[in-house]
Amino acid sequence: MPRVNRTVVLSLLIVSSCVFLLFQLYYYRNYVTRSGPHILSQTGHLTASDIQWQTVKKFLALAQHFRLPLFLADTAALTLLSQDALRQRDRQTREPHCSFLCTDRPITSFALQANLWKHNANFLLAAEQKGFELLQVRGEDPRLASLDTLSGEEIPLHFLFRLHGYIIHVVFLYERSGNYLWHGALRLKANMDRSFAPFKLLDYGRHTGAYDRPKLVLTVLDGLDIRIPHNITRFLSEQRHAHFLECRYREARTFLQLYPEDSSPAAVDFRRNAKSLLHIAARTLAGLDIPFWLSSGTCLGWFRQCSVISYSRDVDIGIFIVDFKSDIVAAFKKAGLLLKHKFGKADDSLELSFVSGDVKLDIFFFYEEGDIVWNGGTQAKSGRKFKYIFPRFSLCWTELLELKVRVPCETLDYVTANYGTTWSIPVRSWDWKSSPSNVQENGVWPPAEWEELIQVY
Ligand SMILES: *[C@@H]1O[C@H](CO)[C@@H](O)[C@H](O)[C@H]1NC(C)=O
Repeated sequence: MPRVNRTVVLSLLIVSSCVFLLFQLYYYRNYVTRSGPHILSQTGHLTASDIQWQTVKKFLALAQHFRLPLFLADTAALTLLSQDALRQRDRQTREPHCSFLCTDRPITSFALQANLWKHNANFLLAAEQKGFELLQVRGEDPRLASLDTLSGEEIPLHFLFRLHGYIIHVVFLYERSGNYLWHGALRLKANMDRSFAPFKLLDYGRHTGAYDRPKLVLTVLDGLDIRIPHNITRFLSEQRHAHFLECRYREARTFLQLYPEDSSPAAVDFRRNAKSLLHIAARTLAGLDIPFWLSSGTCLGWFRQCSVISYSRDVDIGIFIVDFKSDIVAAFKKAGLLLKHKFGKADDSLELSFVSGDVKLDIFFFYEEGDIVWNGGTQAKSGRKFKYIFPRFSLCWTELLELKVRVPCETLDYVTANYGTTWSIPVRSWDWKSSPSNVQENGVWPPAEWEELIQVY
């Protein structure tokens, strides 16, 4: 064998051993230090959690390649993660390599920030080539809906990828004009496969939902790079109360055809001031961590005409008395509002009014009692008390005047309790002591307590 050839063979051997060494290093980095499952368990069989882990890993590799702006939104996985400190001991009995992503459900949910992603059909193709089956759910784009136009355009709302019996649920989050994120409901069309996934177990899709834009962090979970909400506790609590109601634009349009919007300068002014006041109220109460909802006329305005009632002259909100904090008055004053009156006390009929310019903000505190909820009213000059009774309700998100705000989810019941079955007919002369259909006389404050319980500024 010629001498030259021997050198060539030798170099080739050296090069190939280097390559092999690098491969080993790479393998070591990926499968050992990252503590993922070994390809086969001791018995040589894949366990359920190995399969779930590998399905997630495969999906995340694809998502990374196509730059999907994803974050982990799975309530079961995030709950395990949020209780991490408490579970340190407990966790050793769980699958050591997959302690967070392998939940006892055959589903892992991710949220996709749709505004950051350019839809790429190659992604779906690549997913199919990797063996994933896909179910796409599309729906109307609510961002185009308003009083002027009703949406017709369809956008992707949910993707479900299935592999080896595991589901990766991708929920599309869209930016709405009130500066929050929205996802659609998951509604299967007639021709869709109802057995594709255990739909009842999904975290997202039973309703539409609204979220604040979460701050995210990149972390390594069970050896996989994943973005998660920075404050998991806050995200999970938002998730439990995310139910969103779209305004009834179709009905509002019909209403406005019958009763056109007042376009006088005074009405336009009022709407602008009411919007600014509502934004101040939302910011101030968010700072105190106090949930509130649109009440009385402001709720009716949203429900009936997707707007504020321009002749109402005030903004009405409700707060559960259990959420009352005494620094609320100071906080509103700091935000530039003047206290106009304070009626009642924390354990009976509390009501606060503030003014900003010539718009009044009425804050009614609600008391829960058995299967009803009530708020009080006080007539300053006579000390007479009134009580307004509502059926119990839960709170949902909606949008009004470019703000994400809460309303009673059972809005029709709420509005009907307050305004009767003729709520859809505008009434300009309204007496808060006699007009509401749910008002009741509730005695008189003892004169000795007037000074404390009837404060007018
Ligand atoms: C996370 O959010 C909760 C609830 O909103 C809050 O009480 C807590 O302080 C937050 N934690 C951090 C670390 O920001």
